Amino acid sequence: MTNLLGKPISFWLDSTAKTTYPKMKNVTVDVAIIGAGITGITAAYLLKKSGKTVALIEAQQIAASASGHTTAKVTSLHQLIYADLIERHGEEKARLYGESNQAGVEFVATTVEQEGIDCDFQRNETYSFAKNKDNLDKIQKEYDAAIKLGLPAEFATETTLPFEIAGAVKFNNQAEFHVRKYLLHLAKIISGDGSYIFENSRVQTVEEATPCKVFTNDTTLLARDVLLTTHLPIMDQGLFFAKTYPQRSYIIGAKINAEKAPRGMYIGVGNNYHSIRTTPTENGDLLLLIGGGGHKVGAKSETEESYQELEQYAHSYFDIDKIDYRWSSQDYESFDKLPYIGKLTPANNHIYLATGFNLWGMSKGTMAAMILADLIQGITNPWADVYDSLRATPFVTSESMKNNLEVGMHWVGDRLKGLTKWSTDDVKPGEGKLINLKGETIGVYKDKTGNVTAVSATCPHLGCIVNWNSAEKTWDCPCHGGRFTCDGKVIQSPPVKDLEPKLLS
Ligand SMILES: Cc1cc2nc3c(=O)[nH]c(=O)nc-3n(C[C@H](O)[C@H](O)[C@H](O)COP(=O)(O)OP(=O)(O)OC[C@H]3O[C@@H](n4cnc5c(N)ncnc54)[C@H](O)[C@@H]3O)c2cc1C
Ligand code: FES
Repeated sequence: MTNLLGKPISFWLDSTAKTTYPKMKNVTVDVAIIGAGITGITAAYLLKKSGKTVALIEAQQIAASASGHTTAKVTSLHQLIYADLIERHGEEKARLYGESNQAGVEFVATTVEQEGIDCDFQRNETYSFAKNKDNLDKIQKEYDAAIKLGLPAEFATETTLPFEIAGAVKFNNQAEFHVRKYLLHLAKIISGDGSYIFENSRVQTVEEATPCKVFTNDTTLLARDVLLTTHLPIMDQGLFFAKTYPQRSYIIGAKINAEKAPRGMYIGVGNNYHSIRTTPTENGDLLLLIGGGGHKVGAKSETEESYQELEQYAHSYFDIDKIDYRWSSQDYESFDKLPYIGKLTPANNHIYLATGFNLWGMSKGTMAAMILADLIQGITNPWADVYDSLRATPFVTSESMKNNLEVGMHWVGDRLKGLTKWSTDDVKPGEGKLINLKGETIGVYKDKTGNVTAVSATCPHLGCIVNWNSAEKTWDCPCHGGRFTCDGKVIQSPPVKDLEPKLLS
């Protein structure tokens, strides 16, 4: 077992208090919002301000899933996107993408000011950089596309990074913040006057009716409209699990002297890129955040390697003493590079969703909430058509075929996995392993004291076989990114049920 460095918790969670909202009750509201990340919290805030009563329902704790594990750059510069969008969707849609994400950035800035939110918000520049000449043409194309679309782009060759770069696209007047300080403040404005926040309340399903019914295992809530802001929708009807794929990535945090720290927010391009920013800490130090090591969820078991690569990168380029934090998270990427925002299916009049933020959900989740709030109120939104969740989906591109094929291979191939002859001695303390017991694949985990837990390795979502994630000590589903604790409790949608407990005898 590898000894990883740094406290295994997101800095955003470690530096804010835990929330303690009650469990869901049988109440009636105008809008039920399921999932309290940046999308759900922002939508609930907007709808409450518009005069609606809302219930924000969270399976675990609010602002603690992807939105509590991000790098929290709030920008419309999404690594390389604009040249690609122009090619795929044309100039007008690319322009609306830029405009709507800029609006997301400005919404955060205005809300911080209007609500007086103390969240380390600051304007800053973002850079997408090519370290060497191999990727310079991509940077040039992105710069040209951004200028064509009227975005605040500059071409840069100098940065405050501690290494030379070949070139970068730079967007001015973007932003960074402490994401949980921002979201927890918005949450305080949501509850009260007939509106609610519920935690530890995993929604099992929603029934469209007049009003809609939202079910947890022991409660039913009624609402005229329902927003599924669960990252990937928990309802399968719109097939969004097949229109996106889950991508996991890693972050480390290390204290750094302000004089030696880079200024601005950075992301590399090409293979094995890194994402870089700093954030202030309570005692006045700066924490350098470095992200990277991305891979499809469930596609890698030895996930410690991703952290080790980040540690090496941090030590080789930055003047830091030690690694203070490490954490990881995931996001859903859409095959056509646009998020899905709108109705669940053409048959649903009152159930809406937002997903597919391609690792840029601070601006996109905010912008999605603005669109959803307008749709619910019958207000025409200028960007709604670009992201229409009912749009024709390019299932049959070579990219989506490859991804779906990989998922399919997991589906079939993974069933053959697992040790057939084994004893509990084969599983080391702190390790999880798949075994084959009487034809069934079982996930076996041994804790540090030698206690063994066994669960069915079949994901309750659509039946794929989960894979062990050694750094996080979780069972991760390679098909649509569902994740479970080492003893099988669901922690990441789309599944809503736990892995079935098993007896080994
Ligand atoms: C490592 C990493 C770095 C990133 N850095 C950036 C960045 O710098 N800038 C940027 O713009 N984006 C970044 N992103 C992307 C961004 O963090 C996400 O796109 C965004 O947080 C997604 O927000 P969300 O509200 O859709 O989902 P989440 O924050 O995951 O919220 C969904 C919520 O729904 C809840 N839920 C799920 N199922 C149920 C259920 N059945 N019942 C009730 N609740 C349920 C979950 O518990 C969760 O709290 C990064 C992503 C990663 C992985
Ligand atoms: S998450 Fe869909 S099958 Fe596991």
